[in-house]
Parts: sequence; C-alpha cells; structure tokens
Amino acid sequence: MGALNLAVLISGRGSNLKALLTACADPDFPARVALVVSDNRDAAGLGHAETFGVPGTVIERRDYADRPAFEAALDTAIRASNVDLICLAGFMRLLSADFVRRWWNRIINIHPSLLPAFPGLDTHARALAAGVRLSGCTVHVVRPAMDDGPILVQAAVPVLPDDTGQTLAGRVLIAEHEAYPLAVRLLAERRVEIVDERVLFVDPTLAARFGPESVLRVP
Ligand code: GAR
Repeated sequence: MGALNLAVLISGRGSNLKALLTACADPDFPARVALVVSDNRDAAGLGHAETFGVPGTVIERRDYADRPAFEAALDTAIRASNVDLICLAGFMRLLSADFVRRWWNRIINIHPSLLPAFPGLDTHARALAAGVRLSGCTVHVVRPAMDDGPILVQAAVPVLPDDTGQTLAGRVLIAEHEAYPLAVRLLAERRVEIVDERVLFVDPTLAARFGPESVLRVP
C-alpha cells in the first residue's frame, strides 16, 4: 500500500501543519504532504511548507467571484497533486456541502475541544465559562455542518483552576500535535472504517492497541 497523499489546508500559524510535516518526514510514516494550501497569503504556516520543501499555494476567497469559483480552484489544485486526503489544519472557512460531498470521507479536521462540546469559535473561553474539568481536541471526518462528523481521535487534557483561554489553548495544542498525525496514521493504515457515522476499528483486537491511545491522553 503506497503512502497517502495529503493536502493540508491552513489559514494562519500552521502549527498542526508543522506536526503533520514532521510526522510525514519519517519514511516509516504512511503519508506524505503533497500540497499545502492557504486561503490567506500572510499565513505564517506557509513558511513551514517552504522549510520542509513541500509545495505551498495561496488560494484566497477574495480573488474569486463567488464561493463555487473559489472552491473549484481549490478542487483543481488539490486534484492536480493526486491528493487522497484533505487535512484541515486551522482552515477557518466552512466548505460547502457540495465540496464536502465531492470529497466524502476524504476530508478531516482538527478542532480544539472534545466535540460535540464547543464547536465553532472561542472554544477555550466557552469551555472555561462552562467550568468543564477536562478539555482537549478532536480529529473528525468532515460533514457539511461546522465541526461535525465521525470522530477519529480525541485527546483529553485537564482544565486547571487558574487557566486562562491562552494557557488552556496551549495545553490543548500540545495534544493536537499528537492527535492529528495519529488520525492520519489510522486512516492511512486502513485501520478504521465509518459505520453508521461512527469510526470503528476494522480489527477489534486493534481497538485494544489504538483505542486508549485514540481516546484519552492526559499529560
Ligand atoms: C488549532 O487549535 C485548531 O484546532 C483550530 O485552530 C488552531 C489552528 O492552529 N481549529 C479550529 O478552531 C477549527 N474549528 P495552527 O494554525 O497552529 O494549527
């Protein structure tokens, strides 16, 4: 089985992109980053693509008349790179249901909460306001609704009494950088399948090996 070709879509800092690039630099890792796309020409994350020698391209919404034209450009660029899986990594734009259907089960996203809690923006402030004792991150298969879809990997971190949004975000981000490569590995090694909108392990004995790892990690 050949390595999975990834397109990583970013809008900003790109620390999750860097985690994926770092994982993919290991020849034993079953995926490669074929293309980085930013919808923001000023995204710092584009620098990571350059550092790792991976093609990076800018496709900005404002350069296109409407969303279908923007998404057609995205689609063309991604297909030209023979991409198997699209990884949204801080890509702060909702893809249309049409686009998601065209790439059904082949787009994944990372979100900094234990979904379905706290989808959308201001995740950490809302988690703190709700007084949750655990937060974390989720890597999920993308569906048309925002931050919705079958859950591939979750990692939990504690919420500490003196946390601010920033300190909690920092703790969650460390978990994100482990969770995202793990999710890509599970898909690339065909260890999981989607049944009734839930991600199940193909071989139940693997659940013992990957299950705890893909559910809970408290540093
Ligand atoms: C990450 O925390 C990611 O989970 C979040 O944006 C940040 C991007 O950071 N994504 C979302 O909130 C999507 N709903 P990065 O650019 O350093 O990877």
